[in-house]
Amino acid sequence: MNFYAHITGWGMSVPDKVLTNDDLAELVDTNDEWIQSRTGIRERRIATDEQSTATLATDAAIHALDKAKISPSDVDLIIVATSSPDNIFPATASIVQDSIGAVKAGAFDISAACTGFILALNMAAQAIHTGSISTALVIGSETLSRFLDWTDRSTCIIFGDGAGAFVLQASEEPGGVLSAVMRSDGSGADLLGLSAGGSYYPASEPTIHEGKHFLFMNGKEVFRFATRVMAGATKDVLDQADISLEELDWIIPHQANRRIIETAARRLKFPIEQVVINLDRYGNTSTASIPLATVEAAQEGKLKPGDKIVFVGFGAGLSWGSLAVQWTGPLPEERRKVWPYRLLGLYRFYVRLRSLLLRWIRFWEGLIWGRPPRQ
Ligand code: COA
Repeated sequence: MNFYAHITGWGMSVPDKVLTNDDLAELVDTNDEWIQSRTGIRERRIATDEQSTATLATDAAIHALDKAKISPSDVDLIIVATSSPDNIFPATASIVQDSIGAVKAGAFDISAACTGFILALNMAAQAIHTGSISTALVIGSETLSRFLDWTDRSTCIIFGDGAGAFVLQASEEPGGVLSAVMRSDGSGADLLGLSAGGSYYPASEPTIHEGKHFLFMNGKEVFRFATRVMAGATKDVLDQADISLEELDWIIPHQANRRIIETAARRLKFPIEQVVINLDRYGNTSTASIPLATVEAAQEGKLKPGDKIVFVGFGAGLSWGSLAVQWTGPLPEERRKVWPYRLLGLYRFYVRLRSLLLRWIRFWEGLIWGRPPRQ
């Protein structure tokens, strides 16, 4: 049997704290006019000390489940795409799994920088196509502000924090994720990244002094690469899905830079009015940017069931990719399971209690049984 992976829920979460271009001009030698004309960004959101990639991802996930009207216990798989995970390991997805009480879900992270959300969507869709799972939660979440050098005006003006999530559900009705393109060129690994804290440059005093824990970027080269690949990846994914550019309703691109997006649209001869852009308010939120733009477009009523959409992204790696989708929206009422979101506060209390109980049981088991004998 053929299963199709439909997007049936979506949600987002951004920190309340807004950092405008004028605020940045007090930190580094820049100004609103320069940033807006070079990037299109007016402001971005910055996580508070209490927020992390996992907490933003959790909030976005809950909104997406609410939209799809399904319970966390229906989720089979959680994938978090992120470039700023809470830890190197465990996966941020596992923290989200515990926080939302997705008791039967597997969970893992995808690291492919800003392209990560597209790869994560494709992996979840493929698992649904094969019949291996029926419901997935795919999240892009970032707190890149924690990895920025706030004295470097060439990078700190670009990025912002936030999270967006999709629910994917299996259905026998054609639609949902139609095709995908995934590409990489590791010869450009030195153009954009964050090198320290991994196994090649473990955290040490010299790595801290040399600022290797901060994001680095060769803006000009990344710009050239991005404008080159975006139009091609869009055409390739449309060819695979047998959709013409004229039939396409929306392009939802990675929100890196307005000039990059406009150049790609011009190359494709695609009307810019049908390209979703919200980077002016959030900056580049890496893996979160495509779902954030999608959620806002859906909330504004732009996306209609049946619309054909291309998501296209690029980023460090170098990596790039695209995904063609037929928009679905929540499944019809009679097929939904009712998830009592009115009881959300109670549910969150239960989930926290459950997590504490599991830790408590593990603690007592350790005391009673002791450590396992050495082999
Ligand atoms: N404010 C004011 N001036 C700045 C500045 C800032 N924030 N950042 C750099 N400048 C200066 C430079 O020092 C340089 O000055 P100089 O000519 O006296 O040496 C001048 O502006 C031009 O710098 P340049 O780096 O050539 O600017 P640019 O036109 O390439 O724009 C980016 C810089 C970063 C906006 C642009 O390259 C870009 O958007 N690249 C893509 C980045 C991206 O999308 N990354 C994420 C990918 S996922």
